[in-house]
Amino acid sequence: MEELVKHFDMSDEYANNSFSQQTIGRMVIQYAVNMATQVFADCRHIRALDIACGPGNLTLEFLHALEENFPTATIDLSGLDYSDGNVKRLVKNSESRIRGITASFYDFPPETKEQHIIISNEGLHWQPPYKTSNLYYLYLDAAERKKYEAFACKNLTTALKNIYGALNPGGIAVLQFGHEGGLRNLWQVVYEIFMEEPFKKYSEKVNFPIYYLPVENIHNALGEAGFPDDTITITSFAQDLTEDTPIRVTNLHRAVSERGYSQVLDPQVLEKFYARMEEKLNEVNMPEFRKNMWRRTLIQLHKK
Ligand SMILES: C[S@@+](CC[C@H](N)C(=O)[O-])C[C@H]1O[C@@H](n2cnc3c(N)ncnc32)[C@H](O)[C@@H]1O
Repeated sequence: MEELVKHFDMSDEYANNSFSQQTIGRMVIQYAVNMATQVFADCRHIRALDIACGPGNLTLEFLHALEENFPTATIDLSGLDYSDGNVKRLVKNSESRIRGITASFYDFPPETKEQHIIISNEGLHWQPPYKTSNLYYLYLDAAERKKYEAFACKNLTTALKNIYGALNPGGIAVLQFGHEGGLRNLWQVVYEIFMEEPFKKYSEKVNFPIYYLPVENIHNALGEAGFPDDTITITSFAQDLTEDTPIRVTNLHRAVSERGYSQVLDPQVLEKFYARMEEKLNEVNMPEFRKNMWRRTLIQLHKK
């Protein structure tokens, strides 16, 4: 089997199994609209971009919120994502009222320029495909982890520079993604399963491409990207996993991992993996397991 070096697309069922992303994504939309109504009250034309929009269920909610709050403005909203399939889904589900941009947030195309509002939810901690010696960065040895962290810091700075460059002067952004300590309990369960037969042999071939940086590194990356301190507000907090049953937690993990894992695991083994995950989650104390699982990083920015 080929080594896993490709992007992890979200599965076709992502929009139906991403309640945790929706919980925080709705907060991102609310924050963005609150900021925008203060800054762009008299604007007749609003250009906005949702970065790492996935299948666009939240982008569509953002469109409705903008239309409701700016009834006399024309809204020019785009969603940007690596995954062409999901971008097409966004355009179709919005009946072409939202434009789709298939691109990486590490390399913005010209049509991303001159935005009044940029939002992004649960995307900017995703790394480009990168080969490591283990399934997940928490289980790398110190030297390899340090290297990966440096890579992740550099990547975040690149993405934030692109966001800075895409904003008009006076533009605003609300970005949200995870920071250090996020999803530890979930990854413990996933890792333990990957240490079992018949999954063990895949644990080095699968590299789940995310990194949860410390908040301090995120703050530094924002500065390096061009945002002065007085234009940055970071609210970081813990939040419970919204999913509250073994099947819902398994489906959440399946939604973000199935396409990636299936590059390496055979379909039957993959089904066994998710069945084993649900079985193991039946043994955990669910309220304890879910508690404070997410480390949210809600970042409000404006460009002078
Ligand atoms: C967890 S989903 C979040 C989707 C949506 N924003 C939400 O909150 O439901 C992460 C998304 O980031 C996208 N993504 C990851 N790396 C990317 C990159 N370098 N450029 C653009 N999109 C990327 C994935 O394709 C995926 O759709």
